[in-house]
Amino acid sequence: MTPAVRPARPADVPDMARILVGALGEKLRPAFGRHAERAAAALMRDDLGRPEVRYRVAEDAGRVVGVVHLALAQSPESAFFDAVRAELGAARALRASLVLSALAYPGLAPDEAYVEELAVDASARRRGAGRALLTWCADEAARSGRRRLTLWVGAANGPAIHLYRAEGFVPVRRRRSLAGRLLFRMPTAILMERTLPSAGPPLP
Ligand SMILES: CC(C)(COP(=O)(O)OP(=O)(O)OC[C@H]1O[C@@H](n2cnc3c(N)ncnc32)[C@H](O)[C@@H]1OP(=O)(O)O)[C@@H](O)C(=O)NCCC(=O)NCCS
Repeated sequence: MTPAVRPARPADVPDMARILVGALGEKLRPAFGRHAERAAAALMRDDLGRPEVRYRVAEDAGRVVGVVHLALAQSPESAFFDAVRAELGAARALRASLVLSALAYPGLAPDEAYVEELAVDASARRRGAGRALLTWCADEAARSGRRRLTLWVGAANGPAIHLYRAEGFVPVRRRRSLAGRLLFRMPTAILMERTLPSAGPPLP
């Protein structure tokens, strides 16, 4: 049976952080080192209270197996720094801000929603969780009046690119960077986009 998608709850945060760091460690460890899971959990707790952020989890047989973070608008620039500083201190927050600025995606357009992170536990892949979470993102973005769903993916990330292409995403542009290569072992990233059907007026 396809994993069910439901809203993330505060009690899910430890599982979500573990899955995220397990799946996207190459992005998070250069920024947070051995504190990646703590930092991810702190950011998620903070994000769960933000109106512009949606988190959903995929649940399979009562177990959280996947997580997606959908952004309907840019969070305030200080939000990331403040949440990490509260958990790990100012020096680590500064370091993480600098490292992750290499991957920063400039402000979302009003007609755009952005998949910030998508991750499925390694033990639960190829059972439909990734597709179910991505489908939810497209539906939610359309319900919120957005016309485009976007995301960045590493050019070498075959499984994710297969999924995105199968779900109607097309490449829009490529970004090559030294920082991407040195910090994240991701010399080339691809911006992909899916056009969404109109579904009523945008939310305020
Ligand atoms: C990418 C990821 C989220 C896919 O999650 P998943 O639950 O395994 O994906 P699904 O089972 O829903 O697969 C849906 C479709 O995606 C494609 N796909 C997924 N994994 C694939 C793989 N390893 N090879 C080829 N195609 C793949 C297939 O088209 C698949 O459909 P099918 O199983 O009917 O052939 C998961 O592999 C993951 O967490 N990877 C690490 C983190 C990551 O890369 N996140 C995305 C960053 S942009």
